[in-house]
Amino acid sequence: MKALVLSGGKGTRLRPLTYTLPKQLVPVANRPILHYVMDQIAQTDIKEVGVVIAPETGSMIKESLTVNPWGFQFEFILQKEPKGLAHAVMVARDFLGDSPFLMYLGDNLIGESILPFVETFQKAEAEALILLKEVEDPRLFGVAVIDEKGEVKRLIEKPKEPPSKLALVGVYLFSPTIHDAISKIRPSFRGELEITDAIQVLLDEGKKVKSHILNRWWLDTGKKDDLLEANRVVLDELVKESIEGEVDHESRIVGRVQLSKGARVRRSTIRGPVVIGEDTVIENSFIGPYTSIGRNCLILNSVIEHSVVLDGARITGVERLEDSVIGRNTTVGKSQENSRALRLMIGDDAEVRL
Ligand code: DAU
Repeated sequence: MKALVLSGGKGTRLRPLTYTLPKQLVPVANRPILHYVMDQIAQTDIKEVGVVIAPETGSMIKESLTVNPWGFQFEFILQKEPKGLAHAVMVARDFLGDSPFLMYLGDNLIGESILPFVETFQKAEAEALILLKEVEDPRLFGVAVIDEKGEVKRLIEKPKEPPSKLALVGVYLFSPTIHDAISKIRPSFRGELEITDAIQVLLDEGKKVKSHILNRWWLDTGKKDDLLEANRVVLDELVKESIEGEVDHESRIVGRVQLSKGARVRRSTIRGPVVIGEDTVIENSFIGPYTSIGRNCLILNSVIEHSVVLDGARITGVERLEDSVIGRNTTVGKSQENSRALRLMIGDDAEVRL
């Protein structure tokens, strides 16, 4: 079996971060989302992993996978335009050959191992197996109707009137018959070749499609609040205490804190779960729970909680920063004493609440 990880597309929802960073590389607890996807695949016996990339962001995706602790044999497959998930499979046809495959969307995080689903699919006589999760607003997703045995009866992409609350999570298992089904579909109302429609073709032809409903969390890191929630859940579940950096005797570290090497904490309190990247300096500050701070940041005289701060950011003299996402190499700071004026230089599509 092979794996196909979709890391192309356009990241419009996480702008402005995704002007300079593909959404699959947005960090959660200081690791790109894509690396969690690879961790998942590494739990199976799959070794050959095709990664679909876009012309604009492909080199960054490749670079982030050069250190390859998973020992995968990667093949990068260029999709010139984001014409849909089924189109990405078409573009990967040579890589996939006639092998069954696991398809994983590179911006999805799930809270349970995929190994049992892969094993079920390998034993089951089905043409596809899809993962589902009950959600509040299914109109934003592909939606499935299943029977009491978990067999899929009908699928529809982003329906205005959803027939169920079961959304398609971005993890699919396919036999090679999917290629034939893809050749029979037409672009959808949003102009994309939808994998959901191709699976519906399998159903129309009387083929068996199984499903599994996830019990634990699934995070589709679409918007700022989703990213903060993903960060919260991953910090809660996956972060272990490890102090490789320096902490002076006037500082306090409470709870699960991961302080990377070269990081320095002076006259500050850090209350976990928190991760702090390499060479970051925290001085005279309080870093509260559910915060991730990237590499080479400077946090001075500030209080930060429940936030994601990306590499190279400088935050100085901020009394309280909460529920925030701060982009790479940005500066957030207090103006001169006694001045009430704001002095801003804000990139396109940014959001500032004062
Ligand atoms: O997140 C789950 C949902 O993902 C499913 O419920 C939907 O059925 C499925 O169509 C998909 O919907 P989205 O609209 O959220 O997909 P998005 O355009 O965000 O693309 C998902 C991933 O696939 C993302 O990492 C980018 C990549 N991609 C996307 C397209 C359209 C490609 O690599 N190539 C593409 O052409």
